[in-house]
Order: sequence, then structure tokens, then C-alpha cells
Amino acid sequence: MTKRRLLITGSTGFLGRAVVAVARESGEWITIGTARKPAALSSSDEPDFFESWDLSREEAPTQLLEKTKPEAVIHTAAAGDAAFCRKETVASRKINVVASIDLAEKCAERSIPFLITSTDLVFDGTQAPYEEMAAPSPLSEYGRQKVEAERGIQEVYPDAVVARVALLFGPPAPERPAMLARLAEMLRGSGPVRLFVDEFRSPLSTRGAARILLSLLGNASGLVHVGGERRVSRYELGRALAEVWGIDPERVKPIRQDEVPTAVPRPRDVSFETKRLRELGIPPPPFEEDLFEARERDGGVR
Ligand SMILES: NC(=O)c1ccc[n+]([C@@H]2O[C@H](COP(=O)([O-])OP(=O)(O)OC[C@H]3O[C@@H](n4cnc5c(N)ncnc54)[C@H](OP(=O)(O)O)[C@@H]3O)[C@@H](O)[C@H]2O)c1
Repeated sequence: MTKRRLLITGSTGFLGRAVVAVARESGEWITIGTARKPAALSSSDEPDFFESWDLSREEAPTQLLEKTKPEAVIHTAAAGDAAFCRKETVASRKINVVASIDLAEKCAERSIPFLITSTDLVFDGTQAPYEEMAAPSPLSEYGRQKVEAERGIQEVYPDAVVARVALLFGPPAPERPAMLARLAEMLRGSGPVRLFVDEFRSPLSTRGAARILLSLLGNASGLVHVGGERRVSRYELGRALAEVWGIDPERVKPIRQDEVPTAVPRPRDVSFETKRLRELGIPPPPFEEDLFEARERDGGVR
């Protein structure tokens, strides 16, 4: 089989690394990764080629496509920190909105499959479980930027896949600990870990999500909700993670949202309805299997 050239933006990130690894394992792709700077990665997460590129520079999307000549693009590069987006609206909008729409438009001109990752945080958490047709209602600047990108991309490239991804768990990225990576660290430490009993998500592993994204690429278009098999609270997820890692789940203690005031509002329940995904023949990974696979990939954690 002739391998095709896949460009993965944000390839050093939490999700991007898993996309690289799964794409390489499939044997179908020559992987070209990009981010502003290279990162220390394990050999399985290392793309075949890497390009340092700041996509938020004007003309960067065009120049990157000209240089790398991909036959498909998975765009995960983003400013995903809600506090950063709130403080640095202009800088975050450049990558999350402007560059994302520009990249989609350039892929449309070249007729190459394009997939962008969006987020469950486009919803305010009052109407779960969310189907693709539900009206977005973001509470944060990050969520608003993602909605703007979704709309702009669908306008310039109706065949693009806009994959709204739920909360992810997986091996921590060396330089950017995600929420669940921080949780893994806390579980490895000592003392109680307090997690919300009243905040619900449809979590899945970074590898589980990566497999779904690769299956969607070129085989679907429009909005798709990429979530895990179950709706669970952060507390339930923490206990389940502790169990598969062989840590005493009693270390995880319940806490309620109103006990922890935050600068960025937190939606209560943004769990997904994943009917569309299942109809496309791409079911979410079984919850327990997904947890165990994430453990295996984390070198056993602890
Ligand atoms: N993590 C989750 O639980 C989660 C949940 C739902 C949706 N998502 C979505 O999944 C995608 C990836 O999230 P993530 O958690 O993997 O993020 P991440 O770990 O913060 O990684 C972001 C990646 O984008 C790159 N990047 C950032 N700004 C860039 C720029 N201006 N030019 C080029 N590259 C840039 C980063 O590398 P440099 O900093 O070196 O540039 C990094 O490789 C995002 O679209 C996010 O909205 C994530």
C-alpha cells in the first residue's frame, strides 16, 4: 500500500502525540508533525518529519502546506488554556480562530481532507447529553473562539470534519500537564485528591480519540461528537483511574463545584450523545478497556 502524507498540527501536544503514534502504527501514513517548537518525545510519538512553525503568523498556513505537501490534515494545534484565552484574547484568537479557518480554506482549495478538533466546552452544561445539532452556548472565551472557528471552517470548507472532543486522559505531555495528567501525578503522590461529584463529562483516552479522528478523516463531514462510552463525574473518573492504576480509590474524595470558586466558569454537564459516531460505524472505546490502555501507555503509571 502506498503511504499518504498526513500533516498533524500540534503534534507535540497531549492529543497530537497520540494522533502521530496511532497514524504511524496504522502503516497508512507518512506523518508530518508541526508545532512552534520540538518537544522531547518517546520514539513512538515522534513523527516521520517535524516542522517548527508558528501557525498564527499570517501566511503560515499557506507556506506550511506548500512546504509539506500533505494529502490530509488533522489540525489539533490550539491555545487550549481557558485562562490564557481570557487574558490573551488577541493572541489566542489568532491560532484558535484565524489560523484554523485559513488552514481549512487552503485545504479546501487543494481538495484534501481536513479535520479540526473542537471541544465539549462549546456548551454551557445545562442541556446534556449534547447532540451535534444542539445550539452552542459557550461560557468561556476559549469556548467562544472554538465556536467561531467551527462556523468559519464549515463556511469555507463544508466537507471538513469538525470533531468536538470530550475530556481526554492519557500519558502526561512533558511540558504541558493536562488536567488528567495532573490528576495522575496527584494519585501517585500521597494525601487526598478532591474531585467534583457534580461535574460530568464523556471522557476518553487520547489514543481512543486519535483512532476515531483518523477513522473520520475523509470518511465524514460536518460536526461529530467524539466522546467516551460513559457519562461520568470527575470524581467517578478519578476513582476509576485510581483503580486501574492499582491506587486506593478511597484517596479520591468528593467535592462540589460551589465549594471552589473559579475565574473561568465551569460547565456542569457537557457529556455527549455519540449516536452519530456509532452510526458512522466508529463506536467509542469501551470505558474500562480505554482506561487500561491508557495505563499501559503510561508505563504502568506510579
Ligand atoms: N486536552 C483535552 O482534554 C481536550 C478536550 C477537548 C478538546 N481538546 C482539543 O484538542 C486539541 C488539542 O488539545 P491538547 O490538549 O492536545 O493541547 P496541548 O497539549 O496544549 O497542545 C497544543 C499543541 O498546539 C501547538 N500550538 C499551540 N499554538 C501554536 C501555534 N501558534 N502554532 C503552531 N502550533 C501551536 C503546541 O505546540 P507549541 O506550544 O510548541 O506551539 C502543541 O503541540 C485542541 O483543539 C483542543 O481544543 C482537548
